[in-house]
Amino acid sequence: MHVVVNAAQSVDGKLATRRREQLRISGSEDFDRVDRVRAAADAVLVGVGTVLADDPHLTLDEEDRRVERLRNGRPGDPARVVVDSTGRTPTDARILDDAATTYLLVSAATDRDRREALADAGAEVIVAGEERVDVDEGFEKLANRGVDRLMVEGGGEVIFSCFEAGVVDELHVYVGSLVIGGRDAPTLADGAGFTERFPDLTLAGTERLDDGIVLSYEVEEAGDGES
Ligand SMILES: NC(=O)c1ccc[n+]([C@@H]2O[C@H](COP(=O)([O-])OP(=O)(O)OC[C@H]3O[C@@H](n4cnc5c(N)ncnc54)[C@H](OP(=O)(O)O)[C@@H]3O)[C@@H](O)[C@H]2O)c1
Repeated sequence: MHVVVNAAQSVDGKLATRRREQLRISGSEDFDRVDRVRAAADAVLVGVGTVLADDPHLTLDEEDRRVERLRNGRPGDPARVVVDSTGRTPTDARILDDAATTYLLVSAATDRDRREALADAGAEVIVAGEERVDVDEGFEKLANRGVDRLMVEGGGEVIFSCFEAGVVDELHVYVGSLVIGGRDAPTLADGAGFTERFPDLTLAGTERLDDGIVLSYEVEEAGDGES
């Protein structure tokens, strides 16, 4: 599976404010770029933290792109994926509506009743991991369902876990011209952090869009994680 991480951050590396409220970091040119990356993906993934903070829908903005996908025999919108160990996704979350397939990656810690409630609300529930969602196992199960190209949109906890698991192939970061600050504000990669070995990035391109810049990297190796 090919994994593309895409996020927008401030110059000081924050994805949102310390209140974890959604913030407009980029502009219309970058929204269009993100829509294009989404349209190329089989599925778009977020963590449950992002679902609870932003209630995203994650479907395509441009009808032309939906039509093009349908013409190519694909679903109009990419599938949506939530990484959610205990099934905290609200049953009325927008991501569970019938606009596209939604996979909920949960761990064995989500009890049967909760799994059933989420399935009734529209999710296809996939169990991967014991206490926390196991990224490797979850992605393998997504691949078995035909997800060849996965876009990871955040937030910082999930992006870190993807780097730690060594599953990231490309990273695209939009750097907007603002300073958010706050030691508790989410950053591009939170989690436990790396200490000695860091993911191996190669700068593959830069593009100026709106009042900011997109940095594109190819990613080779995983970092050392908590070990
Ligand atoms: N600027 C951007 O591009 C952008 C994009 C997305 C989000 N955001 C912002 O980011 C913030 C949310 O980010 P976040 O870091 O708090 O949350 P997140 O990364 O969206 O979700 C983290 C949660 O996912 C669950 N999870 C399950 N398995 C996991 C695993 N293996 N690794 C990591 N997480 C796992 C955990 O909750 P459980 O333990 O309950 O499973 C964890 O707390 C919001 O403020 C949102 O606005 C910004």
